[in-house]
Amino acid sequence: REATGDGGDVRVGVIGGSGLYELISDPRTVEVPTPFGSPSSPITLGEFGGRRVAFLARHGRGHGIPPHRVPYRANLWALASIGVRAVIASSAVGSITPDLPADTFVVPDQLIDRTRERADTYFDDADVQHLGFADPFDPALRAALCDALAARGERFSPVGTTLVIPGPRFSTRAESRGWRLLGADILNMTQYPEAALAAELGVAYASLSFVTDADVGHEPDDEAVTADAVFARLTAARDRITGAIADAVAALPAEPTVRPLVDPAASARVLALPVEA
Ligand code: ADE
Repeated sequence: REATGDGGDVRVGVIGGSGLYELISDPRTVEVPTPFGSPSSPITLGEFGGRRVAFLARHGRGHGIPPHRVPYRANLWALASIGVRAVIASSAVGSITPDLPADTFVVPDQLIDRTRERADTYFDDADVQHLGFADPFDPALRAALCDALAARGERFSPVGTTLVIPGPRFSTRAESRGWRLLGADILNMTQYPEAALAAELGVAYASLSFVTDADVGHEPDDEAVTADAVFARLTAARDRITGAIADAVAALPAEPTVRPLVDPAASARVLALPVEA
């Protein structure tokens, strides 16, 4: 399938929660079937940050898809197949260091995968490819996000290690201590395999991580995170998150350059896979 598909000239994709696609002007919704099933949601095409973007709701339009059931391969394939070359992904994260308090942002530069049994590669047959994943997030996209946050006066960390747990449950106190010993700064349930799958398709990927909570806290009897607390913080910060993404998108070059981490011909083979009717 040609990389132009339904998206036309859309080069920038945004994966996020609900709220974002409501801000897209002149929206058009397209269903994009993939060899890996249906994406989490239809893709909304329209203008955002003065650019044409493709928006995908990671957990579905009604937030009905839990983190361990997100069709990650379909999502990234769908975006890449309509021409997207750079993806900004917004996520709520828990912080396990007092240096990154709730209500601040992180633009992570490193990732530790602790998920289980997620389909995390497009190369699971004879087309053997070994993704070079030492630097899992795209530096140019990260720089655009950091510049946008700085210009908006947001408190943020331009680096950080994100550890991805399977979910949907949160961590125990002992696990949370363990994640810290492993070198993690923030916790999340979706950044993996998103980052790896984007890289396998030759799509630049960066995360705008918004700290919603301190996970289990820092003292033994601290109150631990709840889903309600995460959603409340996210909702309150909605305009700050969408504003930062819009500003970063506006600053991206018309044709984002991508650092290939696998053989570009291998990515092209995946994108040429037939879609079953
Ligand atoms: N997403 C937001 N907060 C989180 C936490 N504490 N653990 C895992 N994922 C999260």
